[in-house]
Amino acid sequence: MSYGKNVNIIAEERLNRIRNSVFENQAREKEKIYSRLPRLRDIEKELTNIGTQAGKAVLLGKDAKAVSERLAERSIALQREKNSILFNNGYTKDALEPHYHCKKCHDTGRYENYEGITVLCECLKRIRTKVACEELNKVSPLSLSTFESFSLEHYDMDVFPGSNTSPYERMRKILEYCKRYSTSFTLSSPSILMKGATGLGKTHLSLAIANEVINMGFGVIYVSAPMILSKLEKQHFSYAYDEEEQTINSLVECDLLIIDDLGTEFQSSYNSSTIYNIFNTRLLNNRPTVINTNLTLKEMEGIYTQRFVSRVMGNCAKLDFIGTDIRRPQRR
Ligand SMILES: Nc1ncnc2c1ncn2[C@@H]1O[C@H](COP(=O)(O)OP(=O)(O)O)[C@@H](O)[C@H]1O
Ligand SMILES: [Mg+2]
Ligand SMILES: [Zn+2]
Repeated sequence: MSYGKNVNIIAEERLNRIRNSVFENQAREKEKIYSRLPRLRDIEKELTNIGTQAGKAVLLGKDAKAVSERLAERSIALQREKNSILFNNGYTKDALEPHYHCKKCHDTGRYENYEGITVLCECLKRIRTKVACEELNKVSPLSLSTFESFSLEHYDMDVFPGSNTSPYERMRKILEYCKRYSTSFTLSSPSILMKGATGLGKTHLSLAIANEVINMGFGVIYVSAPMILSKLEKQHFSYAYDEEEQTINSLVECDLLIIDDLGTEFQSSYNSSTIYNIFNTRLLNNRPTVINTNLTLKEMEGIYTQRFVSRVMGNCAKLDFIGTDIRRPQRR
């Protein structure tokens, strides 16, 4: 996986802050314990001293063995005393130690594997994914659209022409589905196709899902099809293949991708093969996608390849939004 330099630097800074806060917490905790149990401060001081003395003894070479044996003995005695003081006062053995978030790499982002090779830790990879998502989400109005601000009031109770149910009934079910979808989200959740006319709440509900799923700690990216495809197209045709690859990687690897307004992008063979590849790669890697479109099935078949349409229809839960644009005055 490769992200932009920017993303790596931001992720590294974030990890640094985590590590610093670990040491700050440790220092604070130490002071608290020392003020209760001052003997511990002396013990720790002496232990540090022993460390330097042992080093010096080796350098001087004189009676090195005898000196270091004496120091080792003293050190063991001090450790024992320290542990029993901690234990007798209700603390764990590691109460004075730093408490790292990641036991594997001690919040450095790297560790030595069994072959002695330094490798990138999963925790740093996770931070990078998160940063990449945030970077791509900077342009979207994520915070405004939530389930709480979604109301069923806007939908008519009468049976909708051409359908056997009312917009209210349909939207009640769709809202229910979306809520359940987000609270039970996993990487093996199905993809979703939200279909229907403009102004029925597709964008609103998909952003509400994004909000919930982000809060659960997943990496979510929301993009509108015309925006992301024109960005990719620009990168591609100006030969910025690295940037193009980075963008596609983030889109392919995030836990949940939301592609809004499919069908309003400029129609070109680059665009339709790119959108197919992103959707298909995610499908193969067990990564759900939410697609929103104003297009009918017929229109989709006219614009995209049979391959893409059948892939989408065969792998998505289909939510058909019905009703009249909620921003227009209600016809009654
Ligand atoms: N059921 C709803 N309750 C409250 N606001 C809504 C509802 N449905 C849509 N909206 C708002 O109406 C506007 C248009 O909805 P939007 O989600 O963009 O529709 P679509 O994506 O289907 O075209 C947005 O500002 C949205 O927040
Ligand atoms: Mg929309
Ligand atoms: Zn780690």
